[in-house]
Amino acid sequence: QSFFKPIHGASPPPSTTRTTKITVVGVGNVGMAIAQTILTQNIANEIALVDVNADKLHGEMLDLQHAAAFLPRTKITASVDYSNTVGSDLVIVTAGARQISGESRLNLLQRNLALFSKVIPPLAKQSPESILMIVSNPVDVLTYVAWKLSGFPSNRVIGSGTNLDSSRFRFLIADHLDLNAQDVQAYIVGEHGDSSVALWSSISVGGVPILSFLERQQIAYEKHTLEKIHKAVVDGAYEVISLKGYTSWAIGYSAASLARAILRDQRSIHPVSVLAKGFYGIDGGELFLSLPAQLGRSGVLGVTNVHLTDEETKQLQESAKTILEVQAQLGI
Ligand code: NAI
Ligand code: 2OP
Repeated sequence: QSFFKPIHGASPPPSTTRTTKITVVGVGNVGMAIAQTILTQNIANEIALVDVNADKLHGEMLDLQHAAAFLPRTKITASVDYSNTVGSDLVIVTAGARQISGESRLNLLQRNLALFSKVIPPLAKQSPESILMIVSNPVDVLTYVAWKLSGFPSNRVIGSGTNLDSSRFRFLIADHLDLNAQDVQAYIVGEHGDSSVALWSSISVGGVPILSFLERQQIAYEKHTLEKIHKAVVDGAYEVISLKGYTSWAIGYSAASLARAILRDQRSIHPVSVLAKGFYGIDGGELFLSLPAQLGRSGVLGVTNVHLTDEETKQLQESAKTILEVQAQLGI
């Protein structure tokens, strides 16, 4: 018995409307920040949550469902069983250990590697056509691991990478120059971590290349200030973790922006972790690191050909080497 009666003479509406489903694995600080940002931004018709902690999972699902009257209509489900994730368009993986104060992201690898071998195969099985977005740290190495374990083509495996670092970078530049961060085009590339690379040569504000502008004004001291900004980006997560124990809101918005770009086929450019072999002289082996990539409904559509100075290219290759060394130690 339907609540509504059809209009006289009209047939009932078809029930086969295409829906968009996102799975979020891990309902900790990061998974929940991502889920709630996706909800408020009306990106999916269905969100499926997965975790090993059944009570926490059920509680988080109910808490989000109770906000239904204030949100776009989205079906929210939760289960410890992967069958609940079937047919997802996008799968976001946030499960795993996080850093304690002062600990590096790379230090998490051993613990999260074991977890990925349990998590990725059932996800790939339930949603063989999905796009996988990895957030768990160390994100670049784990994106490589997810690519191998899933058997997916590389355009459908993405790490959230330095999309977050680039937002921190843009915020700090905007704050320094008293601008809107959305008007600052600036990329951090490479490892999401200590060896990340700031692309100074391509920073622009409202279309004006910033370094040449500062040079013309002979504001030499600014260069030093900008270097300090990159250090603040690298130290940013450590600072937040030492103060509140974890980072969550910024990665929530970062991952939601990537989800929207992919599922709404925005064809927009984001610095995310992609299979980097062959770009910018990176040729020591297969690895993922962040490069400015165009994202759309089929995942990574391509990598933007940004001009890098010799120094930036060298730093990017060093960052690649750091990641490859970690992979080699693990025999992966
Ligand atoms: P958390 O400890 O709050 O949550 C982790 C969740 O994973 C827990 O709910 C836990 O029950 C779940 N989990 C553990 N094993 C699981 C399994 N086998 N299957 C499903 N769920 C499982 O940690 P938080 O703060 O949410 O961080 C999660 C990860 O995200 C960490 O690795 C952290 O370093 C990373 N992270 C990455 C960022 C990025 O920019 N890439 C930003 C912030 C955090
Ligand atoms: C972040 O950068 C810890 O990777 C995490 O917020």
